[in-house]
Amino acid sequence: MTRPKLRPEERIIVALDTPSLQGSLRVVNKLKSIVQTFKVGPILFLRKGVRSIEDIRSEGKDIFLDLKFHDIPSTVEKSIPNIMNYGINMFTIHTLGGFDMMKAVADRVRIESENKNIKKPTVLGVTVLTSHNDETLDEIGISNKTKDQVLKLASLADKAGIDGLVCSGLECEMLRSEFGDRFTLVVPGVRPSGESHDQKRVVTPRNAIDLGADYLVVGRAITESDDPLQATSEIIDSIS
Ligand code: C5P
Repeated sequence: MTRPKLRPEERIIVALDTPSLQGSLRVVNKLKSIVQTFKVGPILFLRKGVRSIEDIRSEGKDIFLDLKFHDIPSTVEKSIPNIMNYGINMFTIHTLGGFDMMKAVADRVRIESENKNIKKPTVLGVTVLTSHNDETLDEIGISNKTKDQVLKLASLADKAGIDGLVCSGLECEMLRSEFGDRFTLVVPGVRPSGESHDQKRVVTPRNAIDLGADYLVVGRAITESDDPLQATSEIIDSIS
């Protein structure tokens, strides 16, 4: 069972999708009184590297490193010791990498944390990106409906020993009924209202939580708002 017990404010993860470290740290500083975890993805990491993680951690904040590894088992597995040296709390791999890759990662993370005597980071498997729907899955040769595809990948992740899944809010109920509290569920594509941008499977924060999400990843709805602190407070209120 890998379902964390969380207060409403601990459920919000803010995605720092800008190449500017200064800009990201401004967001961290504005939100640090109410947000504990910030997501660093390729936009910031490829520009500022490990320093982005160190600077955010030095504000006392937790890091979700979202580089979505999708490679052969040996390449991903050998990346794990380095990732774990950064002191991150969660990171992502693609479940599409397959059972062997996921198992190699789950095993290596466990062994590294035992050897280094550090808290094990949560390994999250991305199922189907929230920017996909049935039509765009078909375009890339996946004829399964989105929900069936998510379920298939989740079953593999379960067997491989992955801690959590990244999915849309629309799949949380199905995953909870199939796997109970087995997985930590992390939901991007969250929109309080308004623009969905490039996301296709969107839900409101309240819906996502009601359907069984543990964490909500929110990027532009907060970072591009005129008042990020207010926008975050409103989301927290809506799920409280
Ligand atoms: O701005 P927005 O709230 O759409 O940002 C969502 C964040 O979650 C982005 O950083 C994106 O890379 C990430 N993400 C996603 N869908 C997934 C996995 C991660 O949108 N399935």
